[in-house]
Amino acid sequence: SANIIEQAKRSAAFAAVDKHVDSTVRVLGIGSGSTVVYAAERLVQLKKEGKLNPDLLCVPTSFQSKQLIVEAGLRAADLDDLPVLDPESADFSSIDVTIDGADEVDAKLNAIKGGGGAHLREKLVANASRKLVLIADSRKDSETLGTKWDKGIPVEVSPLAWRTIKRQLERMAPLSRAHGLAKAESAAFSFDHPQAVLRQAVRKAGPVVTDNGNFILDVSVGSIYDPLAVEQLIKMVPGVIEVGIFSGMAKEAWFGNEDGSIVCRE
Ligand code: A5P
Repeated sequence: SANIIEQAKRSAAFAAVDKHVDSTVRVLGIGSGSTVVYAAERLVQLKKEGKLNPDLLCVPTSFQSKQLIVEAGLRAADLDDLPVLDPESADFSSIDVTIDGADEVDAKLNAIKGGGGAHLREKLVANASRKLVLIADSRKDSETLGTKWDKGIPVEVSPLAWRTIKRQLERMAPLSRAHGLAKAESAAFSFDHPQAVLRQAVRKAGPVVTDNGNFILDVSVGSIYDPLAVEQLIKMVPGVIEVGIFSGMAKEAWFGNEDGSIVCRE
């Protein structure tokens, strides 16, 4: 039931926060979506117990995420206002760890994100983080992307040319020339004819407008055999702002099961 799923999400969120957030963490990325709400709940408890760094800064990934941070009594900081953690090294990270949800996570921890439309800022924050930790219920624990999440790859696009971008994405071939850059022998995805659908708002007539003023195309390609190739293919289309495929970014994923147990994959 819905309640059991919520408990599973909550257990995964609590376990991930307990493993990764202690008083040594100075900068924490806060993801978006319904699972992250439980991570914020745990942060409030840890704060009350005096277990958080008193100078902790939290970096939001959406309007919702910023609200969570403020309502938790934590301090929000913008990504670009932060210094790099280690100026002496090649690592440009400014965030110790980011905890975020996901729509589907494959065997190698590649993920589909953006079901909530926040994947642009989520990817920017993840990219600037030493560690990206994903939290979800076990329905999202998958072998191959696109086999459990069937709503398509969320792609944030410029409203200036969404129809042209849609047409181009629908003509993507599984064995295109761009795909040849990554792996020439096999298909990157299973559909012969991808479909791109403009995401519609629920309580308003018209399209979803993201926090950044853009539209979202949900692009169905079937099974995603080569997430990096598909991410690259889509990203190359002019007017695509960000793709909801996170290839090779996550270090760890926590899944809550319906029986109350938790699985951590790394
Ligand atoms: C937001 O755009 C997404 O990337 C979310 O992280 C993802 O949709 C997970 O949301 P839930 O935790 O609500 O499933």
